[in-house]
Amino acid sequence: MDKLVIRGGNALTGQIKISGAKNAALPLMCASLLTDQPVTLHNLPRLADITTLADLLNHLGVEVTIAAGNGNGAGRTMLLRAENIADTTAPYDMVRKMRASILVLGPLVAREGVATVSLPGGCAIGNRPIDLHLKGLQQLGAEIDLADGYVRAKAAGGLKGGKIHFPMVSVGATENLMMAASLARGTSILENAAKEPEISDLARLLNAMGAKITGAGSERITIEGVASLRAANHPVMPDRIEAGSYAVAAAITGGTLDLLGARSDMMGATLDALREAGGFIAETAQGLTVGADKAGLRGINIKTQPYPGFPTDMQAQFMVMLAKADGASVISETIFENRFMHVPELARMGADITVAGPVATIRGVKVLRGAPVMATDLRASMSLVLAGLAADGETVISRIYHLDRGYERLEEKLKAAGADIERVPA
Ligand code: UD1
Repeated sequence: MDKLVIRGGNALTGQIKISGAKNAALPLMCASLLTDQPVTLHNLPRLADITTLADLLNHLGVEVTIAAGNGNGAGRTMLLRAENIADTTAPYDMVRKMRASILVLGPLVAREGVATVSLPGGCAIGNRPIDLHLKGLQQLGAEIDLADGYVRAKAAGGLKGGKIHFPMVSVGATENLMMAASLARGTSILENAAKEPEISDLARLLNAMGAKITGAGSERITIEGVASLRAANHPVMPDRIEAGSYAVAAAITGGTLDLLGARSDMMGATLDALREAGGFIAETAQGLTVGADKAGLRGINIKTQPYPGFPTDMQAQFMVMLAKADGASVISETIFENRFMHVPELARMGADITVAGPVATIRGVKVLRGAPVMATDLRASMSLVLAGLAADGETVISRIYHLDRGYERLEEKLKAAGADIERVPA
């Protein structure tokens, strides 16, 4: 398995082009199951998770074509056509690689009246149940059985509209139910829905396909079911987590980066926290310019929350930055338990962090030192890359397949901005 070798200390400068968002692209691809006509997605990132889902969709009968001549820089165009659903079972071997595979459940049962999906795997960041997805489908009239590690959903006469009140905010459950309700008979209302920009992006595609969705981006989404959906073209929104990660890279290395295509309107809490910690952010015609103030970085307190709060997917990256900031910081992780797996690795690099339950206390140190470390989950892996960029000496990161799931052309982008980073076969 490949490793990343980083020799830290270089201030990053120049431009980084932000890719299409992984977390938007995955549900958008699943929406193709809802129609027999082609769905064309532009600005798709080149990532392992995208390939994994494309393979699963292909297994279900979706013809997946990558448009010819799509270079690296501009993102890819993918055509997905589910003219016939060949199989309504998403098998364990395909689902275990990626938790987001559960997003095929809603569209499949909505279109075919039956779906069998293996219970998902994915990042090991705590016990991530899917009860909200299943209860929501039951509210739309599906019968749900769990057996042998599989969920089987059945709605012989099709789904019917219903009112769903989510007891807690779930991005994936909101997406699954929004897709399922689009083909249900009658009107559905999702209350306490997730408000993430990726939800709004999915609603835009579904509406372009002929769905009748209002309120996406707010906590109450109304979906008037339609009999069928049609072809559509859709550009994937920029990746706000990738942009946030590179913003931290600029600040922590004392550099300045132009993040091309980054959208400040989707990154409010991240940018506010960066500013509070001593970062500067300027809007440009092409995106954002970010770096650290001359005064340097200082400790702040952060609590992860559903959008528009501070994203859990930025928690590990900010922790690294705060580990080198002046003073103490407290980070409370309220979304996922067990999402501090980067802490022992950062400690190996000289960070001073103590964890008590969902709360991490970080006391800033002057210097992080390069060390061999191991990547655990996707965002934790990025935090180790950032630590390596800011550390004195050499950091070797193993198990980097997590990074390939979520960061497009990571070394290439960082290298072009002046980082000393290379991938070596183990
Ligand atoms: C999505 C993102 C992930 C991000 C997370 C929170 C994708 C592909 N992934 O994941 O990067 O970290 O949102 O912003 O978009 N929960 C339940 N029951 C359920 C579903 C969720 O209890 O049926 C809990 C989870 O365990 C977690 C919380 O709800 O504690 C939020 O999870 P959710 O928003 O569903 O995350 P994902 O959609 O899996």
